[in-house]
Amino acid sequence: MSTRGPTLDGALGGLDVAALLAAGALAPSSHNAQPWDLRWRGGAVEVHADPARALPVCDPGHRELRLACGAATANVRLALRAQGRRAHVRLLPDPDDPWFLATITVGGPLPATSAEEALAHAIPRRRTDRSPLAGDGVGPRVREEIRRAAQRGRSWAIFVDGVPERRALRELTVRAHERQQSDPAFRAEWDRWVGGGDGDGAGLPRELARRAPRPDCTWRLRDFAASADPDDERPPAAPDDPALLVLATTLDQPIAHLDAGQALQHVLLLATVSGLAASFVAPPVEVGETRAELRRLLGGALWPQVVLRLGVRRRAVPPPPRRRTDGTC
Ligand SMILES: Cc1cc2nc3c(=O)[nH]c(=O)nc-3n(C[C@H](O)[C@H](O)[C@H](O)COP(=O)(O)O)c2cc1C
Repeated sequence: MSTRGPTLDGALGGLDVAALLAAGALAPSSHNAQPWDLRWRGGAVEVHADPARALPVCDPGHRELRLACGAATANVRLALRAQGRRAHVRLLPDPDDPWFLATITVGGPLPATSAEEALAHAIPRRRTDRSPLAGDGVGPRVREEIRRAAQRGRSWAIFVDGVPERRALRELTVRAHERQQSDPAFRAEWDRWVGGGDGDGAGLPRELARRAPRPDCTWRLRDFAASADPDDERPPAAPDDPALLVLATTLDQPIAHLDAGQALQHVLLLATVSGLAASFVAPPVEVGETRAELRRLLGGALWPQVVLRLGVRRRAVPPPPRRRTDGTC
């Protein structure tokens, strides 16, 4: 991984560059592939995509790759703000290089707001939590905060509350999951990342891999829960009845995916600060046909980018593996 940068940069007044790179590397990513290459250059953190960590079957258009890199961008920006610096974000800075996704340039001094500090401190605490969730703990105030956080990333957070809409989303999820699992290429790609990884801290280790649906099988059709956890093999004590949120954008171009990735990370960090757990319901947005149907379900004007389960956090989740960031030049 070339997350290179000095630990302390004298010219930039004791800026902790390694902390910026480490924050970026804590972003979520599909299959935990960590498809970014974070570089420190000329007073800025550059976010490049790492094509070797793309998922050509699950994510042929690299949409989820850009979401993950957008989330990494948001983390770097917040970590920089927490160090009391202005942060100037530029997306797709080089028109000739589609893999160069963002720069976060260090600006002059500006103390972080308390909200920014809280989000930055949540970066290492945020986890994808696949346990059963009760959505009734996601009250109106936090919903409004989540909507506003998404809007700051030019995205829309839409809660799916109606019984018919939830049923329709569930049907799309099951259909997409079955389509993916019946594709040998999808399973081969899964096996490469989930239950093996790349030996460099990306992917998920075998003991975390899980292909069969959980016993409750409501929303967590594809997850990577620890099969060593006996609760996993029994019907859960609490039903899985999460709040469901679709993060959507007006456009569906690379820049919109990067925006949505930043919005996603703000929503996830806000959830962490608010004592909420979150995980992904990815299949319906990964399969083109079900994504188009979900778009229609949302009224036809927005592109769904991410579906999240949300609920009150009940347990601590151990950190998943990460690629090493050495913070050296
Ligand atoms: C676009 C995207 C799609 C994801 N899809 C799934 C999924 O279908 N199932 C799942 O359990 N986790 C999913 N994840 C979560 C990743 O597995 C998780 O981010 C990664 O393992 C790192 O763990 P962390 O989020 O706890 O840091 C997804 C993450 C992203 C960004």
